Amino acid sequence: MSIKFLLNGETVELTDASATVTLLDWLRETRGLNGTKEGCNEGDCGACTVMVTDPDGAKALNACILFLPQLHGKAVRTVEGFAGPDGTLHPVQDAMVEHHGSQCGFCTPGFIGSMVTAHRQGRRDFDDALAGNLCRCTGYVPIIRAAEAAANKPVPDWVKDVALDVGANALSPETVEELAAWYLANPDGTLIAGATDVGLWVTKQLRDLGAIAFLHRCRDLKKIDAQGDTLRIGAGVTMAQVHPVLKKHHPSYAEMVRRYGSEQVRQAATIGGNIANGSPIGDNPPALIALGAILHLRKGDVRRDLAIEDFFLSYGKQDRSAGEFVEAVTIPTNAKALRCYKLSKRFDQDISAVCGCFNVEVNEGKVASARIAFGGMAETPKRAAAAEAALLGNAWNEATIEAAAHAMEDDYTPMSDMRASAEYRMQTAQNMLRRYFAELAGMPISILEVRA
Ligand SMILES: Cc1cc2nc3c(=O)[nH]c(=O)nc-3n(C[C@H](O)[C@H](O)[C@H](O)COP(=O)(O)OP(=O)(O)OC[C@H]3O[C@@H](n4cnc5c(N)ncnc54)[C@H](O)[C@@H]3O)c2cc1C
Ligand code: FES
Ligand code: FES
Repeated sequence: MSIKFLLNGETVELTDASATVTLLDWLRETRGLNGTKEGCNEGDCGACTVMVTDPDGAKALNACILFLPQLHGKAVRTVEGFAGPDGTLHPVQDAMVEHHGSQCGFCTPGFIGSMVTAHRQGRRDFDDALAGNLCRCTGYVPIIRAAEAAANKPVPDWVKDVALDVGANALSPETVEELAAWYLANPDGTLIAGATDVGLWVTKQLRDLGAIAFLHRCRDLKKIDAQGDTLRIGAGVTMAQVHPVLKKHHPSYAEMVRRYGSEQVRQAATIGGNIANGSPIGDNPPALIALGAILHLRKGDVRRDLAIEDFFLSYGKQDRSAGEFVEAVTIPTNAKALRCYKLSKRFDQDISAVCGCFNVEVNEGKVASARIAFGGMAETPKRAAAAEAALLGNAWNEATIEAAAHAMEDDYTPMSDMRASAEYRMQTAQNMLRRYFAELAGMPISILEVRA
């Protein structure tokens, strides 16, 4: 396997690196570049943020859950490469000095990584862009002020990296045909898309992944195709890429995705990975179930489609055989009544305790169709069949909503864990239904929502 990429402007070619060495470990242990820090080693704190440029542009990514083969053909810039060749500070570095944006300094290289990337992208939404970087001592106000102060300064030429033109890499199929053939021949192998889950299998569980295929170069998986009043979203589309598309068609779903992990996680995590992992607390599955999405699976040359709710069989078990992979998911573009509510302990960068998605059509005052799904309420993402039945055909009013909220107790027996107790989960799920009714009736529902 050969990996070629740019590191702070210099070409690096590796032929003998292990496929599961993270960029963070490699930078610190092999290259002696210790500026990139290790905080959590699981994508949560942003201390390891670097800027990675690929043909789609610059992205802030967490180096601790980024495997070296994922860099093939890309350009990486670490904190050692953000100042100019003559030592001139980057405008965001200048602004951080000016605005006292650093105290102990541990988080600072990661913040600078996110800020340099946001500056290059011309962004102004710094609360979102920096939500994946934690600072324990300075506080965020001086840091946001620094980002704002630098925003109108020109992007220095030295950070305008471009992606490399490289050939295929043995571990990274370029087409879906190559991927299908590889997986058929290696049915026990591990697929790695964004590595926001698989990265932790290595850094936290020290797992040996066996044969590996990286999906990030597989062009066919990255497409979003409009077909009539549907969208077919390739499994390799990242949450950052799907966000603007959802914003156009399903703003409430998009708002949930805005709070999905952090900028660094959204730039890596794929919709296919979030479905395939089958997590009961993944955010896409409840929204996709409420939308009535169709999942497209492929094994060798054989393709099959299934309603997405039928994919999740039990905890850790999905309707997917060895060698079969998620190719795409199709969603309708018109579902005006879709609303998605994510409840987590922190507003940003947190996994849901409960995620409720509602898509109810009312015709002449009566419920004509209802699709309701929750994450965090059962061992899989699950439809609320009893609640839906309590709504269907009945008048769309508070009495019906109360009956449906009560029926939800037949749908779910939630568990208690560190995120929430069973009672809290049930009560908040029922309240989400009440909130949905209130929202569709035009009542104010976000009066306590804190917005920066
Ligand atoms: C800090 C942090 C915050 C997070 N926040 C959230 C959050 O807010 N909401 C949320 O839902 N999740 C969250 N996650 C979990 C994770 O980001 C998602 O599950 C993510 O979408 C996984 O996608 P990936 O591309 O990174 O998958 P990977 O880690 O690459 O793969 C995940 C699993 O899917 C399999 N896989 C990947 N692609 C395919 C495919 N096409 N076909 C078949 N199998 C495939 C892999 O083999 C693996 O089993 C978070 C993770 C981290 C580290
Ligand atoms: S070390 Fe915390 S996100 Fe990488
Ligand atoms: S300056 Fe100390 S953690 Fe941010």
